[in-house]
Amino acid sequence: MNSPARFPDGFVWGAATAAYQIEGATTEDGRGASIWDTFSATPGNVRDGDTGEPAADHYHRYREDLDLIAELGLGSYRFSIAWPRIQPTGTGRPNQKGLDFYRRLVDGLAERGVSPMATLFHWDLPQELQDRGGWENRDTAARFADYAEIVFDALDIGDWLTINEPKTIVQSGYQFGDHAPGVRDEARAFVACHHLLLAHGLAAQVLHDRHPGRRIGPALNLHPTYPADDTPEAARAARHADGLENRLYLDPIFKGHYPEDTLRWISERGPMRDHILEGDLATISTPIDLLGVQYYTPHFVDGDGERVFKHPTAQAEWLEIYPEGLYDVVTRLTRDYPRVPLVITENGLPTLDEPGPDGRVRDEGRIAFLRDHLAALHRAVEEGARVEGYHVWSLLDNFEWAQGYSQRFGIVYVDYATQKRIPKDSALWYRDVVKTGELR
Ligand code: FCB
Repeated sequence: MNSPARFPDGFVWGAATAAYQIEGATTEDGRGASIWDTFSATPGNVRDGDTGEPAADHYHRYREDLDLIAELGLGSYRFSIAWPRIQPTGTGRPNQKGLDFYRRLVDGLAERGVSPMATLFHWDLPQELQDRGGWENRDTAARFADYAEIVFDALDIGDWLTINEPKTIVQSGYQFGDHAPGVRDEARAFVACHHLLLAHGLAAQVLHDRHPGRRIGPALNLHPTYPADDTPEAARAARHADGLENRLYLDPIFKGHYPEDTLRWISERGPMRDHILEGDLATISTPIDLLGVQYYTPHFVDGDGERVFKHPTAQAEWLEIYPEGLYDVVTRLTRDYPRVPLVITENGLPTLDEPGPDGRVRDEGRIAFLRDHLAALHRAVEEGARVEGYHVWSLLDNFEWAQGYSQRFGIVYVDYATQKRIPKDSALWYRDVVKTGELR
């Protein structure tokens, strides 16, 4: 029998969450409104009319959740800070109660020997900043840097992520409108894109100026793109898709320029180029210390640029299950963007499993998904990919954006009626992986 795949000593095992998806308590302790409060309160935007209230009520139950993290033996917990808890209107003096919540959380992690990894922005923009133009307004990037400075100084956290998935904000928030702020306008989408990247760079500069030795990077969802067939048209379409899915974010951050082909295509559709001012790309390419990689799905495209599904999909219909894609993403990053360590900051699957009569949640599908993805990742690591760690999405079932509570990505089940937590079979399986560093 082959010996089980074993990850290197020191490989970091974690789980990830985001503020709006788990906290609830959206009006408590001085928190201001965010664009997701507004968006989810608007009928028709979120399935079943769900909102971020009460979510997993983590704001009140964080101690119990910290204990869960410790029981699973995790070395790292990735969470996000809600900007509207820190600056309820997006500017000005910090709200102490908001800071105190995250201080307690970080202290609780330290007491349990778990390293914090904090995301500055996981989509919950203060509504007042949206009223002033949101990410289409260049000033929002400067406001983001102010907010970042407040939390950098207040919280004892070594590893930071700037913007979670700028691409999802561009596409879902501004092109398709299925996420807050619900805009459907390609031209505006790419203006927002530039300001999101600028915000990332400004925050990285602030951290390096004020706290040398701490680390920061973006959290990018990367979709490996492949031609769906052998035609030159499909190859061209896959290259174009790679521009919009990957290089549009990686190239400015790593190389200090937008990919020419992609920028040309965008410029035919809107004014993004006019918003790129002298010095912006130098800011955006401020050296980063780590790259958060989020992998869920590949994109196979045909000669017309249409997405083609070649493998089974999950309950989330966009999620084509293809573990090999994770191998391809990290080996490509190691080859083409070699400067920084990679941390997998999200990877996971929604399943419909409910507790059985014995209370157990038998989510075999998730175990298979995680095992296959970790095996692909392990192979990449063996071949020299610089991957430091892995975070499963997600620690808890939570508010899955436009899908509300209908999609459960947690390794821990949340009964929303009682807020009882039940570690699913996948959590127990993952606990063993974390403990041994081995895949079985
Ligand atoms: C990612 C998001 C995360 C979660 C997963 C399923 O795009 O960053 O908040 O919704 O997808």
